[in-house]
Amino acid sequence: MGIVIDGRAVAAKVRCSIKEETEKMIANGVTPGLAVVIVGNNQASRAYVNNKEKACEEVGIRSEEYALPEETTEAELLELIAKLNAKEDVDGILVQMPLPNQINEETVLNAILPSKDVDAFHPVNVGKIMIGNYDFLPCTPAGVMELIKETGTDITGKKCVVIGRSNIVGKPMAMLLLHAHGTVTICHSRTKDLKEIVKDADIIVAAVGKAKFVTADMVKYGAVVIDVGMNRDENGKRCGDVDFEAVKNVASYITPVPFGVGPMTITMLLKNTLKAAESRLK
Ligand code: GUN
Repeated sequence: MGIVIDGRAVAAKVRCSIKEETEKMIANGVTPGLAVVIVGNNQASRAYVNNKEKACEEVGIRSEEYALPEETTEAELLELIAKLNAKEDVDGILVQMPLPNQINEETVLNAILPSKDVDAFHPVNVGKIMIGNYDFLPCTPAGVMELIKETGTDITGKKCVVIGRSNIVGKPMAMLLLHAHGTVTICHSRTKDLKEIVKDADIIVAAVGKAKFVTADMVKYGAVVIDVGMNRDENGKRCGDVDFEAVKNVASYITPVPFGVGPMTITMLLKNTLKAAESRLK
């Protein structure tokens, strides 16, 4: 049976060192600050934002919240972002997605200063990730890399399969694995022979958004399986993109859902905020 990677334990370890770094920075006169912007009444967004703010508080990062009403216009939101771009004690800006329909998400993301873009969603930061010379790593893929590192697996030369090609997870994930010298294949909804490709992988990262999509017959014995999915099963219970109960008998390491990748994503946001604040020390 595979070893279940405890995302909360790994996150706690990383957050400890982030807390130490934050304390050093504060002693040097700089308190890292994160501006969190939420528009409207999306319940999932509210829960994510609360978790992010709580995590900031735990490590000593100052957070300030801007909760705007559902009917906020794009111009109003852009005005706020311009203010936050100029605000010296704000090192990172996070605009929680999704945004209401009247606001173009791309326009908003492009308005955030790349040096304050702690989500690493701005095209400048996306381009830097492609080149491999990055200031900020995208939070979820960076969290996945930490979890793989925790297993002691050397990615060099390994067959890595990423299932999903989103801008937020699939594409940057593939890049980070490539930078770690993996041989990377991206599978998606139009991939032919997906099952055979996944079955050949040493490392599988599932980010498709379909409950229990990866079944035991698709996984090579001893593979490392990382599950980015967050879905509900037929009984309304939270589950990932991997059929955990069956795949754990085949994998060498596997992440659970919840408490696998999730806690790492927020941890990487803290790390990026700290990195953004470093420029104020100089
Ligand atoms: N909505 C869902 N995931 C994310 C994320 O990682 N960052 C932001 N800003 N919004 C999200």
